[in-house]
Amino acid sequence: MRNRSPRLLPITLLYALIASLAAAPSVSIAQSAVVEPALQRIVIFGASGRVGSRIVAEALARGHAVTGVSRNPTRIPTEHPQLTKVRGDVMDPDSIEAIVIGFDAVVSAIGGNNAESDDPNDSFPARAGRALVTALTRLGTAAPRLIVVGGGSTTLESSPGVRFDDPSDIPTGPRGARILGHRVVLDLLQAVDSFRWTFASPALQMRPGERTGRFRTGGSVVLRDANGVSAISMEDFAIAIVDELENAQYIGAQMTVAY
Ligand SMILES: NC(=O)c1ccc[n+]([C@@H]2O[C@H](COP(=O)([O-])OP(=O)(O)OC[C@H]3O[C@@H](n4cnc5c(N)ncnc54)[C@H](OP(=O)(O)O)[C@@H]3O)[C@@H](O)[C@H]2O)c1
Repeated sequence: MRNRSPRLLPITLLYALIASLAAAPSVSIAQSAVVEPALQRIVIFGASGRVGSRIVAEALARGHAVTGVSRNPTRIPTEHPQLTKVRGDVMDPDSIEAIVIGFDAVVSAIGGNNAESDDPNDSFPARAGRALVTALTRLGTAAPRLIVVGGGSTTLESSPGVRFDDPSDIPTGPRGARILGHRVVLDLLQAVDSFRWTFASPALQMRPGERTGRFRTGGSVVLRDANGVSAISMEDFAIAIVDELENAQYIGAQMTVAY
């Protein structure tokens, strides 16, 4: 008996399956199929950086084709058959235009402090923001979608219409200029209506950490957890950026990501 059961069980199951299929209402493939997001061709500026490299990894893991840009492509740490590494300058509109033409989306996660100036308008984010807007405006209706990674402290609001930033918290010198430069970029994008843009403000604290997949997204108002902390790991922030690429929720708008 112990030997017969394993052979009989599948036959019994097969009959039950045939009977249930015959009795079941017809279900079209379209109704039952899971809709997969369309795979995209994405350019990522800052692919060698802490945030950008995580967005590269997340996009590749989800099947997208990525072109990572760096002033020195050997600095891009990832190796993947769907990753192309190219040299480019995010502060030069001609360089941007030549790289992004024909792509679905562009993500800019650039950083670095401009040691030559304390003026936020001269900061690397501000210079890159102006160059991206110039290049994508030139491309007109052929412009890919743009997501710019910003800085939380100078771009988020404590409540609708009330800016969060406290100038006493912002360091002086080139680092402060970079942080304030994110605000310059947001102001610039808010005047753009010729291509689809999103400005992604991280939580107030963002560090390398864990990929949990459990976070919230919102608009311009800072998100805090039950303890009042506004934080996100770079890994979870990268998930949110690729989610937004796949399922556009914040076109022509600011978004934030936090626990
Ligand atoms: N809580 C927050 O709000 C928060 C926290 C962390 C970071 N951030 C922001 O996120 C952004 C990225 O930070 P991160 O830590 O990832 O920076 P990072 O590690 O210093 O990386 C900076 C990236 O910018 C790229 N880059 C700089 N100048 C470039 C140019 N002319 N052309 C092309 N690429 C250029 C660099 O590429 P190459 O040097 O290879 O060319 C590098 O990949 C920063 O703007 C930062 O302010 C915000």
